[in-house]
Amino acid sequence: MSKKILVATEKPFAKKAVEDIKNICEKVNYEFILLEKYEDRNELVKAVENADALIVRSDKVTREVIENSNNLKVVVRAGAGYDNLDCEAAKEKGVVCMNTPGQNSNAVAELAFGMMVYMARGQFNGKPGTELKGKKLGIHAYGNVGMNVARIAKGFGMDVVAFDPFVDNKKMIADGVSPVDSVEKLYNSCDYISLHLPSIPETQKFVNDKLISIMKQGATIINTARKEVVCEDSLIKIFGEREDLKYASDIAPIKKDEMIEKFGSRVYFTPKKMGAQTLEANINAGVASINQIINYFEKGDTTFQVNK
Ligand code: 3PG
Repeated sequence: MSKKILVATEKPFAKKAVEDIKNICEKVNYEFILLEKYEDRNELVKAVENADALIVRSDKVTREVIENSNNLKVVVRAGAGYDNLDCEAAKEKGVVCMNTPGQNSNAVAELAFGMMVYMARGQFNGKPGTELKGKKLGIHAYGNVGMNVARIAKGFGMDVVAFDPFVDNKKMIADGVSPVDSVEKLYNSCDYISLHLPSIPETQKFVNDKLISIMKQGATIINTARKEVVCEDSLIKIFGEREDLKYASDIAPIKKDEMIEKFGSRVYFTPKKMGAQTLEANINAGVASINQIINYFEKGDTTFQVNK
C-alpha cells in the first residue's frame, strides 16, 4: 500500500514548496495530504491518525499527537530546531524524528541582518542612526546559522567573534572568525550579539542578568533563535537600569507588552516567527524533508535522526 505523507503546517510553506513536495510524492507513488493554517490542535491529532510520515515546521508534535497515530513511522521537522517535537514519546513508539539542518540557515541569517540594520537605523524613524561597518559582532553558538551570519557580516565590514564550546576553534578561524574562550568575553566586548542557541534544557534562560549586565555600552541583542534562551525578567531588570541597550527578537517574548511599554523603540519583535519564512528556505527544507522520508522508507537511511 502506498505511504501517506501528511504535511501539517500551521504557518504554511510557500505555494511552490508545497507543489514540489507533492510532485516528489507523486513520483514515488506516495499519497500527499495537506493540512495548513489549522486553528485547533485536534485537527492535527485527527489528521495524523493514518499517516505514515509527517512533515511539520514549528508545529507542536506532542505525545498526544504521536500516541493517536496508528501508522506513523517518521516525523520530519522541516527546519533546524526540533524543540517542538516530543522526541521521547516518539522514541517510545518507535517513531523516528529528523530535522533538516542547514536548509533554512541563510534565510535566518539574512533576517538577523535585517534586524541589525533596522535597530541601527532607529527602526527607520528618519533620525541619524549608526552603521554596521567597523562594529564588533558576537555570534553566540556557531552552527549553520551562525556560520551564515559570519559570512554576511564580513560583507558589512564587521569584526566577527564567536563563542561555541562545541565547535573547534580551527573551524571559526578558517572562516575568518575570532573565537572567544568565554561567553562573558562575547557579551562584554561586542556591539551586536546574535543568538543562535538551540532551545534545550541546558540553554533555557541562558542569556541572564549576569550576561546582559556586562554588555558593552550601546550594544544590541538580536535573537533569531528561540525566546526561551533569554531570561525575560533579567532583560527587563537590566534594561530598566541601562538605557543604552537594545533587543530585537524574531518571535515576541512572553512579556512583549511590558517590554514595549517600558522600552519603546529600544525593542522590536516580529509579529510571527519569520526567520525561515522565505521561498528558498521553504523549498530547501520542504524538499529535503520529503527526500529524507523517501530515503528512510526505501533505504532505511537515518542520517538526520535526532532521537536515536
Ligand atoms: C528553525 O528552527 O528551523 C526555525 O526556527 C524555523 O522555524 P519555522 O519553520 O517555524 O519558520
